[in-house]
Amino acid sequence: MKDPITISITGAAGQIGYALLFRIASGAMFGVDQPVSLRLIEIEPGMKALAGVVMELDDCAFPLLHSIEATSDLNVGFTGANWALLVGSVPRGPGMERKDLLQVNGKIFTNQGQAIAANAANDIRTLVVGNPCNTNALIAMNNASGVPKERFFAMTRLDENRAKSQLAAKAGCHHSEVSNLCIWGNHSATQYPDFIHAKIKGQPVTNVISDGAWLEGEFISQVQQRGAAIIQARGASSAASAANGVVDTVRSLTTPTPKGDWTSVAVCSDGAYGIEKDLIASMPIRTEDGKSWDVVRDLEIDPFSQSKIDITVKELCEERAAVKDLIKVDS
Ligand code: NAD
Ligand code: LMR
Repeated sequence: MKDPITISITGAAGQIGYALLFRIASGAMFGVDQPVSLRLIEIEPGMKALAGVVMELDDCAFPLLHSIEATSDLNVGFTGANWALLVGSVPRGPGMERKDLLQVNGKIFTNQGQAIAANAANDIRTLVVGNPCNTNALIAMNNASGVPKERFFAMTRLDENRAKSQLAAKAGCHHSEVSNLCIWGNHSATQYPDFIHAKIKGQPVTNVISDGAWLEGEFISQVQQRGAAIIQARGASSAASAANGVVDTVRSLTTPTPKGDWTSVAVCSDGAYGIEKDLIASMPIRTEDGKSWDVVRDLEIDPFSQSKIDITVKELCEERAAVKDLIKVDS
């Protein structure tokens, strides 16, 4: 049996937490031969509910679940963490944009970044889910002194999955037949789901779906607005599909990317595709070894796509400017 790896999860008693922990403990995230130790972090008011979640985890008797620590102390919570999944934060309600949460959620990620730097394992990787996740990841990264920037990610995989599902429905195929789908930019209403490079059964989407007006219009806006549509319908933001996006993201970053494909995740830009350096922006990513990753750098960007990417990158710059006091860098 392998040694256990340690996963710290904030907001563990919340909606996403409840849909996520049991999948990690069952082996869906790291594989069925990898034991896991969970460090579950909540704020004080959430600790009673978290105690109930821990009871339920105990009651599953998961073979791979090595240990559970439930705490409201960040230093305890991130001790020895190999992965930090930063979910804890306030979700938006109807009529709000995700960036409206910056003032309430942004500061959470300063202390968390510092506690990660002080307590986590040397190979720590951090995935931010709490919204607005790109800019919250930027805040955590800039407060985690000494942790390499390439170890910070923000989640756009749920958007990728949504886009694949929409394309498959339109083309009348199975979503597993859609590949090479990149979400560019911000996990927000400006994100650009790139149908130009996407493929269905190995063919360009634009060869399979001839309705160009749909691709340029309804498809993009449905993906951009899917989170809001779920809030309208459910009265609460996506939780099970978001937890699934977390599982998919970590799995994709820890296993080799299938040949010729890529995955969407927001990473610290090194200037690729002209995206301003040090923003946390979603782009096409590959990993060969499940440890290091690189941007897929050779995609040709047509003027339509470029105009969409410019819009979402501009929004990321605006969000960064709004939190300049939290990131200690010029913006
Ligand atoms: P929720 O309100 O059900 O749960 C959030 C939990 O976080 C609560 O239990 C709360 O007590 C806890 N919490 C709050 N502040 C905390 C802190 N400082 N430290 C630790 N825990 C803290 O919300 P949810 O539905 O689980 O959503 C969580 C976040 O994920 C929201 O910001 C939501 O918008 C975001 N989200 C992101 C995506 C994405 O694709 N990136 C998808 C869905 C939801
Ligand atoms: C989502 O995309 O479902 C989440 O970011 C929640 C939201 O606020 O839309």
